[in-house]
Amino acid sequence: MIDAANPFFSDVARGVEDAVEALGGVVLLGNSGGEAARERRYLELFEEQRVRGVLIAPLQDAVPPLGALGRLGIPVVFLDRHSDETAHSSVSVDDVRGGRVAAAHLVERGHRRIAFIGGPLTLRQVRERRAGAETSVASAAGANLHVITTLGLTTAAGRLAADELVAMPPRRRPTAVFAANDLLAIGLLQGLAAHGLRVPHDMAIVGYDDIEFAAAAAVPLSSVRQPRTELGRRGAELLFEEIDALESGRPVTHERVRFQPELVVRLSSA
Ligand code: RIB
Repeated sequence: MIDAANPFFSDVARGVEDAVEALGGVVLLGNSGGEAARERRYLELFEEQRVRGVLIAPLQDAVPPLGALGRLGIPVVFLDRHSDETAHSSVSVDDVRGGRVAAAHLVERGHRRIAFIGGPLTLRQVRERRAGAETSVASAAGANLHVITTLGLTTAAGRLAADELVAMPPRRRPTAVFAANDLLAIGLLQGLAAHGLRVPHDMAIVGYDDIEFAAAAAVPLSSVRQPRTELGRRGAELLFEEIDALESGRPVTHERVRFQPELVVRLSSA
């Protein structure tokens, strides 16, 4: 289950479908739309349908309400989640490192007033990307991180963040922004352009995910690439390994796979 409004998850879902079809299975795709109630309804549906396994990119940090899936012996693997507890396998990306390399790149480009935009902070991805950025900024003499907490990781939230940055006095305004995902960065790009500010000349931008629209943006976007289809493919493989073990009576082991992010530099921060 994913939030289909975000191209990141569509790419993850494609990796899941490729792997599941290669393993002879079929995917039932549930779109939570970022809403907890819809996430719960899909989990109930999967339980009623006695699916063989569930892959979920949970909306919140807390383990989602898995209902009777566990009792029914239906394995669950977490996507885009570093599962701390041992009852489930998970695939995720090292978001602290991703935030660190994004901010380090902006510091290396000479920026000292850097903004981080992202939210809500209830999302682990946002907290960890911000924490990584804070470590890079803290190790740069004279640098500071101005944090704008947004209501979501959407283009609309990015445009609102642009309004807030433009309203700052030019001498205090950040000269660079690290956005917690590419949708925010694209909205920020739109908002800055609407105010007549140029990217990267007036403000450099780095996003996160490296979705297809990042390279195609009006100003090609630097972004921290997440290996999206690989995430989905590995999650599906972990789930099938668990299904096979359960169905053949072998001991079930859980694995927490961490991928490493990679900075892709384009014009928006060059
Ligand atoms: O779910 C919001 C964000 O977290 C996505 O854009 C992707 O970065 C995920 O890790």
